[in-house]
Amino acid sequence: MSRYEDIENRLSTLLNSLERSYVNKTKISGNLFDRARKVFPGGTTYHIRYLSPYPPYIVRGKGTKVWDVDGNEYLDFWMGHGAHVLGHSPDFVIESVYEASKNGTHLGFENPYSLEYAEFLTKILPNIDMFKFCVSGTEANMYVTRLARAYTRRPYVIKVEGGWHGGYDSLHTHVNLVGGPESAGLPEEFIKYTIAVPFNDLDAVENVLKKHPVAAILLEPLVGGGGCLTPAEDYLKGLRQLTYQYGSLLIFDEVITGFRLALGGGQEFFNVGSDLAVYGKVIGGGYPGAGGFGGRAEVMELLDNLKYPDQRARSYHGGTFVGNLITVTAGHTLVKYLAEHRSVYESANSLWDEEARKLESICREYGDLCYVTGAGTMRAVHFTKRRPKNSREFRELRWSKIIEKVFNLYARVNGVLYIGEKFFHVYPSLIQGREEVEYLVKIFGDFMGSISRQ
Ligand SMILES: Cc1ncc(COP(=O)(O)O)c(C=O)c1O
Repeated sequence: MSRYEDIENRLSTLLNSLERSYVNKTKISGNLFDRARKVFPGGTTYHIRYLSPYPPYIVRGKGTKVWDVDGNEYLDFWMGHGAHVLGHSPDFVIESVYEASKNGTHLGFENPYSLEYAEFLTKILPNIDMFKFCVSGTEANMYVTRLARAYTRRPYVIKVEGGWHGGYDSLHTHVNLVGGPESAGLPEEFIKYTIAVPFNDLDAVENVLKKHPVAAILLEPLVGGGGCLTPAEDYLKGLRQLTYQYGSLLIFDEVITGFRLALGGGQEFFNVGSDLAVYGKVIGGGYPGAGGFGGRAEVMELLDNLKYPDQRARSYHGGTFVGNLITVTAGHTLVKYLAEHRSVYESANSLWDEEARKLESICREYGDLCYVTGAGTMRAVHFTKRRPKNSREFRELRWSKIIEKVFNLYARVNGVLYIGEKFFHVYPSLIQGREEVEYLVKIFGDFMGSISRQ
């Protein structure tokens, strides 16, 4: 029996005993899931929130913790899909929203609140002259793709394999699979102008740019859901150079990296400017309706209905809830705090550098069973045969079918929550304390010890 098979057997046994412990401590959640199966297809509001054998039903979140309906407390390393960089429901944000809501929730007319927030964003975000709010990251990616096509008058868009940009048709390919539409009901024709390339491969990008009229390359500066993969030295600068050379736009999807890696997101962290950047999550201050995009005035002006009254001459954008009072108040209050306390980035990023090194040394201690990737407060551990440099490798080099699922349950039983049974990655807040992060490292070490023991 190979070493991997041996571990896989031990994992199966561990999985059974973990399931028993979990079921014992989450009886009410179990009942809720039975009900949910009848009303939500798949039993969940969003399928990635499914955790086996059923998810814990969370009733409250505050700071770095959440509590489930059975009264269990968890350290939350998922933080509302990465939306809560200052933890769950910071009092000062809640209070600002409460005050603002005395004037309404969604006014449906132009208001000074969204204007002030947009002005502020253009001051603190790199290379953002003009801005438009949207109500999700998906929607912002949809409008930005259309804008890039309109501006360049070219149809093709390059994306990176593994890149998740929301469920927008044009970009819903090469996320988890290799090629083709990634949903039933999505015709091939809808993705025929989307070309995916492996991350960290400049030659692949140049080959496409040579052959096709490419409007833009759209990617996360640090690939999040596709593996928490950092760009190789000079990769982003190389893309910047190539896009200049071939007249395409460079678009950063900063839905996760924005306000997280640095106040100015990946553009600031990696010191590479994009033409357009897409935001979501944190931009809404932890409230729903979070999204937007911005960039160089010369490009953004193509959304200007006064300058281009002919609808076919401009790129369309709109939406009932865009720029609503609640989301812009929460976002503005939170982002203003971040701008006034930039040291939170330095301390969180260096804490995670330190703790990531400890995770890495656990991987080495147990005979190279895993590899740690990511930067700042975006980190992953891959149970792969070597360190993955792109999303395809992160899938193809996995040596176990179940280890990610078993560790997720192990963490849950030990009071730690994050999402992903296929991939151990965390998007903690910037205020997660050293003790909490060390607890995560400790349980990871214990887990590796228990599965490697002879
Ligand atoms: C990089 C990236 N872009 C876009 C999206 C989609 O954002 P939303 O879920 O707000 O539509 C996500 C969501 O996780 C994301 O991670």
